[in-house]
Amino acid sequence: MFSVAIDGPAGAGKSTIAKAAASQLGFIYVDTGALYRAIGLFCIDNGISSDDTSSVEEGLERINIELVFVEGVQRVILCGKDVSDDIRTEQVSMMASEISRLPAVRKFLLGLQRGFAEKNDVIMDGRDIGTVVLPDADVKIFLTASAESRAKRRTLQLEEKGETPDYDKILEDIKKRDYNDSHREIAPLKPADDGIIVDTTELTLDESIEKIREIISGRMN
Ligand code: DC
Repeated sequence: MFSVAIDGPAGAGKSTIAKAAASQLGFIYVDTGALYRAIGLFCIDNGISSDDTSSVEEGLERINIELVFVEGVQRVILCGKDVSDDIRTEQVSMMASEISRLPAVRKFLLGLQRGFAEKNDVIMDGRDIGTVVLPDADVKIFLTASAESRAKRRTLQLEEKGETPDYDKILEDIKKRDYNDSHREIAPLKPADDGIIVDTTELTLDESIEKIREIISGRMN
């Protein structure tokens, strides 16, 4: 099996780029952030605070998360319900970032993530794929961009959906999540020692996809 790890901060375009590259290469694309989001949603729905470690741990015993692929597109099933759309709110983003610092949560999701790479050619995106989940991945990419350009892209995305986003609030949230994700004790966000850093601040989406595809193809030959 061939595996590609793509890590990087929130809003760097990992999912869009990884999804496009996976479909061009015939790999499955696994968005691991969706798993943390599903646990975040579970905590919100059940009134569990991210500070209450024992309640989160107790919740993990009741939680059931599956990833299914419908025509190559990942859907997240939480306790039998498709929550793929419900996990995309700002509230769930922040909760996912908070619960992701807990060792029990990371351990809970580790086997699930590794299982996909054992059975499929994958492009997997997240924060710790190259460093922890798939340390032997064939290709490790760290995709990044300035916080301002990530906030600008997110603002545009929301405007295209007809919403009226607040750029300053989005920038503040992105910086907060960057801080959380890179300062936690376990599996913090950082490039793998043998990772290739790709900065997309000055690249268009198509240029970014092309660059990632070139890096992967170069390693496959
Ligand atoms: O990629 P995303 O924004 O959907 O991820 C949501 C949160 O989940 C993110 O703030 C940190 C956490 N996460 C993680 O800790 N490890 C991963 N491999 C993926 C996501």
